[in-house]
Amino acid sequence: MTYIVNTHSHANMLKTTNIDEAIISTQEEDIITIVPSSSAQDIFEVDKFIQKYDNLYGYVGVFPEEVKTFTDKTLNDMENLIKSNPKIIGIGEIGLDYYWDKSFKELQKEIFIKQIEFANQMNLPLNIHSREAHLDTLEILKKYNKNSTAILHCFSGSLEFAKECIKEGIYIALGGVVTFKNALKAKEVAANIPLEYLLLETDDPYLTPVPFRGKENQPVYVKYVAQEIARLRNTTDETIAKATTANAERIFKFNAK
Ligand code: NI
Repeated sequence: MTYIVNTHSHANMLKTTNIDEAIISTQEEDIITIVPSSSAQDIFEVDKFIQKYDNLYGYVGVFPEEVKTFTDKTLNDMENLIKSNPKIIGIGEIGLDYYWDKSFKELQKEIFIKQIEFANQMNLPLNIHSREAHLDTLEILKKYNKNSTAILHCFSGSLEFAKECIKEGIYIALGGVVTFKNALKAKEVAANIPLEYLLLETDDPYLTPVPFRGKENQPVYVKYVAQEIARLRNTTDETIAKATTANAERIFKFNAK
């Protein structure tokens, strides 16, 4: 069985699950996990965390809800971490979130754009959070992103929107939501987008897949995401693992940095 790449897991934020055990089980199952940062402070924590385990990599970035933590020195801090730690392989999670709080939309956009331009400079991919902000997200990417591969994490748009993104070369990452009985939109996306643009993730500790609903999510459950996508596409888990891993290798060049 090919190894699997979990492109978005907050394994450092697990609460009821033992973190060591959670990572060891991903090692036993041959899973590489990429851990995003959330705030300007938390980039240091992620940097340390991913150095503890061989199969972890990381993103540095400031999440839309945390843009108020972004200062003049944040990009400098990120650059230093990227230069000193070869396991930092992308910028994330960054983006727009109009679901929780619309009061600082303009600041969210400004910091999103700054981080896109920084990723372009560093020549690193983008791991993007977009919630109820699909059109603005795509518009900003079209306008400002010159050379970074963009991934829409926990993709929550329609199949039509997914196709529009793919036309722009944007990758679609799907997680536990795809296993939910009522998630018809996510299932439709999973069943129909070209495999060349699909990535797997968990976004743990949130969004636990079936059959573990009610328990805390963890990175090893990415297997169940792959399984459900295989079922929806009427193919094997191995096919999904191979295709998504090849995509991730192309984007992240794990060992070439
Ligand atoms: Ni996340």
